Amino acid sequence: MKNIPIALVLGDGAAPDMMRVACDIVSQAARYDDAEISFVETPMGWNAHKQFGDTFPEESFAKASEIGTLFFGGVGDPELDKTLGKQFPEMRPEARCLLGIRDEWDLLLNFRPMIYRPDMKDFMKVRPEFIPDEGVEQHWIRFLLEDTYFGTKKIRPVWNTKFAAKFNGVLLKDEVTGDEEQVIDLAYFNAETIKKYLRYAFQYAKQKNLPLISIDKSNVMARYKLWRDIATRIGAEEFPEVDLRHLLVDAANALLFEPAKLHGVIACGNEHGDILSDGAAGAIGSLGLMHSSAINPDTGQAMFESGAGTAADLAGQDKANPIGRILTAGMMLRHLELPTAADAIEYGVKAVLDAGWRTGDIATASTPGSKVVGTTEMGRLISTAIGKEA
Ligand code: IPM
Ligand code: MG
Repeated sequence: MKNIPIALVLGDGAAPDMMRVACDIVSQAARYDDAEISFVETPMGWNAHKQFGDTFPEESFAKASEIGTLFFGGVGDPELDKTLGKQFPEMRPEARCLLGIRDEWDLLLNFRPMIYRPDMKDFMKVRPEFIPDEGVEQHWIRFLLEDTYFGTKKIRPVWNTKFAAKFNGVLLKDEVTGDEEQVIDLAYFNAETIKKYLRYAFQYAKQKNLPLISIDKSNVMARYKLWRDIATRIGAEEFPEVDLRHLLVDAANALLFEPAKLHGVIACGNEHGDILSDGAAGAIGSLGLMHSSAINPDTGQAMFESGAGTAADLAGQDKANPIGRILTAGMMLRHLELPTAADAIEYGVKAVLDAGWRTGDIATASTPGSKVVGTTEMGRLISTAIGKEA
């Protein structure tokens, strides 16, 4: 049996409740591929601040980097952001940890599959007649670098202080108090990074035999004019067999509730992808179902984080939906080349949803009370379903 280490961030809010359930399922499923998983805890988030005085302890990050695979529960808590976040603005964990890891590991590709199956119609926010019998697959691949997220940081060194001082907030983003007269976030795209990213997106579309829907704002934004030109060129020269479609971001947003019109592999910028993927997950039924992986295709370093926040208002109540974390774990096992384990997880989730079990966020008026379960029970049901199939 092979032993595979995984760095683990249990996280803040209700994340640890969901992650414990997901980790048990990972260990169970991995055995079907003859693998033993060793989780190595690498604390990050406000919980780590309590213990070590830092939301992103160096030791945790070093250990996670060495292991290279990180199962990440999610960090941040709106209440603690108001108190501790005021006191230690530079410690706010969403920017410090998430952007820190993405940047340090160069996580280029953010996969957020949104799969609409007809049997999920009861809890979808999309009208049932908009879901064809064969379902809808949206394979979102968000470009996870540069853009508004990293512009300030990367561009900072070339700025002279006199110029920078005019733009209060650029240099000291963490210290914005709300009293500034002007604050800016810079956005930038580097042509080489965009080319690399888009080639992976084309490759993925080709492999899946799906159209590539490239989302931009090329009618007014310079960086998206660059994006569209690069996409068009790569499409024509290197992937003529892929059906490339361009879509403006506002138009794409209008289609989130007609998901079949976005059936395909979807390439989008960092900030657009953040916003649209929450919209798509909401359209499916709940952010609690969102699953996500962030990958450096060169080094293989990868972070598996559901992308859905920490449901801090549900902390300790055993109510949060663990399915997003569990499906994220499935993506992680596939990345680790444990395909039987990954299939088992997908099967288990589907079986339990098919049987009508729901957590509170996806329960509807037609769900019988006896079928509404909490975090632990949802995990147990999925684990049992996997065990039965095995
Ligand atoms: C996500 C999250 C993050 C993002 C935040 C927490 C920094 O919303 O992964 O979608 O904006 O990328
Ligand atoms: Mg987001």
